[in-house]
Amino acid sequence: MPPRTILYTGKGGVGKTSVAAATARRCAAAGKRTVVMSTDPAHSLSDSLGTELGPDPTEIAPNLWGQEVLAAAEMRRNWDRVSTWLTGLLLSQGVDRLRAEELTVPPGMDELFSLLQIKRHWDADEFDVVIVDCAPSGETLRLLGFPEVAQWWVKKAFPWNRSLLGAAAPLARALELPLPDPDLMDEVDLLLRNLLAMDEILRDHQYCSIRLVMNPDRMVVNEARRTFTYLCLYGYQTDAVVVNRIFPDEVEGTYFGAWRDHQAAQLVAVEQGFSPIPILTSRYFEEEVIGEEMHERLSRELYGDEAPDQIYHPGLAREVTSEGDRTVIRLLAPFVEKEEINLQHVGDELVITIGDIRRTVILPSGLAQREPSRAAFEDGTLEITYEDVQPTPA
Ligand SMILES: Nc1ncnc2c1ncn2[C@@H]1O[C@H](COP(=O)(O)OP(=O)(O)O)[C@@H](O)[C@H]1O
Ligand SMILES: [Mg+2]
Repeated sequence: MPPRTILYTGKGGVGKTSVAAATARRCAAAGKRTVVMSTDPAHSLSDSLGTELGPDPTEIAPNLWGQEVLAAAEMRRNWDRVSTWLTGLLLSQGVDRLRAEELTVPPGMDELFSLLQIKRHWDADEFDVVIVDCAPSGETLRLLGFPEVAQWWVKKAFPWNRSLLGAAAPLARALELPLPDPDLMDEVDLLLRNLLAMDEILRDHQYCSIRLVMNPDRMVVNEARRTFTYLCLYGYQTDAVVVNRIFPDEVEGTYFGAWRDHQAAQLVAVEQGFSPIPILTSRYFEEEVIGEEMHERLSRELYGDEAPDQIYHPGLAREVTSEGDRTVIRLLAPFVEKEEINLQHVGDELVITIGDIRRTVILPSGLAQREPSRAAFEDGTLEITYEDVQPTPA
């Protein structure tokens, strides 16, 4: 059986590491062999767990292992030779060195290779639960659709397969193109197969889910909503969202009272932007979340007595599919009766009002400037159709 795999992502400083560590401890305490691994180059998992971790799993407590993946090393191991060859190819085509190097190593790529560790854990069958403390959202998530893009791109960049290599050589020489050697071709092939397998793991709705961690601040919530849209677009299951650092009632009437009101408004925005995905919350503690006792307090806030490795919400709450020039957004809205649907665009956001319920969706960039051609309500699902568009992720 594959390990239950949960990825925590979100902006820097919102509490990903704390939540990942707390969750892993809870799973381990329940008797499940659990590894918590950080792919964020700004590692703080060692500090949070109070044990110095390395690039391979280190046992910290019964059933609990920790691991801090070295993104740069993973990248060197997986990509250096390919990137050197590509840089050479681009240089031979007159691209200047700085641009060539930049083109062969897109930002966020190092974390992509770190995520390959997930595949290793799936192959090894040593753990029941794999918890991933990811790097801040932006870059890597845009690369999540990467394997498909890479496949397309490699076919263009490597039009020669092994048997063709010989045949292509004279032509390549005439064009003064450096040819990749056969070993390199095999390496690229293996790398691609690994990345595609990882993509499949991330799309496995039975065992894998992503949780977006945020604080109740406008900017943070907006970024999480944007990430959510892309996750839905790529078919990755988000089963819960975590809103961390909520000021408790005690601050009422103090200096932080106004902050609490501001946070309450953002909690409404979270509800409107992510419903029906469950929202797990934790208060802002009076101290840092470090060590076993604080992890237990954080788990209690987030999960109560429930098992944190359950799938809180199965499937995709938003589905974005596009076929040809038609894009359909499907929104689960099981709680509404058939009523007048009102759609309104505000910037890149689609505001949907049904009766007195409001839902907001951040649109993929290709759709933001368009008007939907149809909105229909069927079996608890709202279907919004855009025609004549090609949504472009990122
Ligand atoms: N609910 C909370 N209450 C108080 N401090 C918190 C809470 N959650 C996280 N922290 C603290 O905030 C800081 C950032 O949290 P961390 O988990 O490292 O965030 P991230 O991994 O998203 O960058 C850490 O010092 C952590 O101990
Ligand atoms: Mg962190």
